Order: sequence, then structure tokens, then C-alpha cells
Amino acid sequence: MAAPRDAEIHKDVQNYYGNVLKTSADLQTNACVTPAKGVPEYIRKSLQNVHEEVISRYYGCGLVVPEHLENCRILDLGSGSGRDCYVLSQLVGQKGHITGIDMTKVQVEVAKAYLEYHTEKFGFQTPNVTFLHGQIEMLAEAGIQKESYDIVISNCVINLVPDKQKVLREVYQVLKYGGELYFSDVYASLEVSEDIKSHKVLWGMCSVSSLSVSVSQRSTPPCKEGGVGPLG
Ligand SMILES: C[S@@+](CC[C@H](N)C(=O)[O-])C[C@H]1O[C@@H](n2cnc3c(N)ncnc32)[C@H](O)[C@@H]1O
Repeated sequence: MAAPRDAEIHKDVQNYYGNVLKTSADLQTNACVTPAKGVPEYIRKSLQNVHEEVISRYYGCGLVVPEHLENCRILDLGSGSGRDCYVLSQLVGQKGHITGIDMTKVQVEVAKAYLEYHTEKFGFQTPNVTFLHGQIEMLAEAGIQKESYDIVISNCVINLVPDKQKVLREVYQVLKYGGELYFSDVYASLEVSEDIKSHKVLWGMCSVSSLSVSVSQRSTPPCKEGGVGPLG
């Protein structure tokens, strides 16, 4: 059971991504939009195959697509409308699998609505993507098995979660031995004051609950506390 403040944050974030935002044009800052510049050609080509409604609801802040993904099982935390899942779907191929999980129903519904479209577009016999509705702090409740993924990715989501350690502990549980976590996120170089932290739009825009650079430079980094090894 989430603490009352955490539950309120979840509600506000769901409202922001489910009701306030309809497309990336509605974003009130450019904190979570990244240009496609510098993206490798093969990923740009995969992006061109993704349905325009899915693309129009992209709110990510970076590229979380490692190399050599054929046949991999990948979990996307906070998958939104599914843009990254559909790019990865093409890269893992028919024998790989992508699971996207998001707590905002509207986002999951948009992602699911284009499952058949993409299966056909990519020339697959059966879908290799599954979308789940649930919280990334509670992966088992959403039906995600322990030690079942080669890779976990997340694009601009962990900053929105009040209990980040909990997310990292969950990631550690669901990764196979030797599996890897790749995430793109927003970092703050200064401590953010409590009154700014309670600003709902700024929180929703990934600007106030960001991981802080000083935290990531502590002798025991949060990833290590969560059970995930050094970032390199
Ligand atoms: C900035 S958007 C990024 C969405 C997607 N990764 C993308 O690149 O378009 C943040 C997403 O994280 C989801 N989210 C935030 N906190 C979450 C949580 N605790 N559990 C599951 N999803 C969460 C929101 O519903 C929203 O869809």
C-alpha cells in the first residue's frame, strides 16, 4: 500500500498524462522532449514504422535502445503510448518479446490500440509486445515474473516516482542474472526546495522529483542500494 503522499503523486501524474496531455505539443516545458538528432540510421528507420498517434504521444527524454537486441526479452517501465516498445519490437524480432507497463490507463489504451497495426507492419505472425496496466514499484502485482528479462529500459519515468529505491529493487528482481538496466532521465544539479516539489505541473513535467547529481555521486549510489550494480 502506497503512503498517502505517494498515492496523491500517482494520482496527479496519472491525471497529467491521462487527461491534461493529448500530444507532445501540450507539454508545458521542453524538459521531456528530445530531438531525433544523432539517432543511428537503423533506429530512425524503425521509428518511421511506428504509428503517428503513438509518436504524437511520446514524452521521453532520451534514447534507451542498446545494441544487439535480437531475441531479447525487454521490459519498458512507464511505456506511455508505446513508442519505444514498438521500436524495440522490430529490433528483437519475432522470437524476442517486449513488455510495456504504465499506470496511466489512457496511455496503455493508446499503446494497445495499435498492436495489430504494428504486428502486420513488421511482418510478424503474432504480436511480440504486451502492454500492462500497473505501477512500476509493484511489478509482481502486474504479473511480471522474477528473473524473466534480459534488459529493462525506462525513458523519463523514474524521476516521476516518489520511491525510486523501490523501483530499483523491483528491477533487480525481474532481471535475469547478468541482465542490464538502461534508463534515460532528468537529473537536478541542485537540491530542489520542498515548495517547488509540491508544484503539480512541475512534478508532472519531470522537473522537480528528478534524481539529483549529488545523490548519484554518493559513495553508495542508489542503484547499488537497489541491488543493481555500478553504472560503469
Ligand atoms: C514522461 S512520460 C514518458 C512515457 C514514455 N516512456 C515515453 O517515452 O513516451 C512518463 C510516463 O510514466 C508513467 N508513470 C509515471 N509514474 C509511474 C509509475 N509509478 N508506474 C507506472 N507508470 C508510471 C506515466 O503514466 C507516463 O506515461
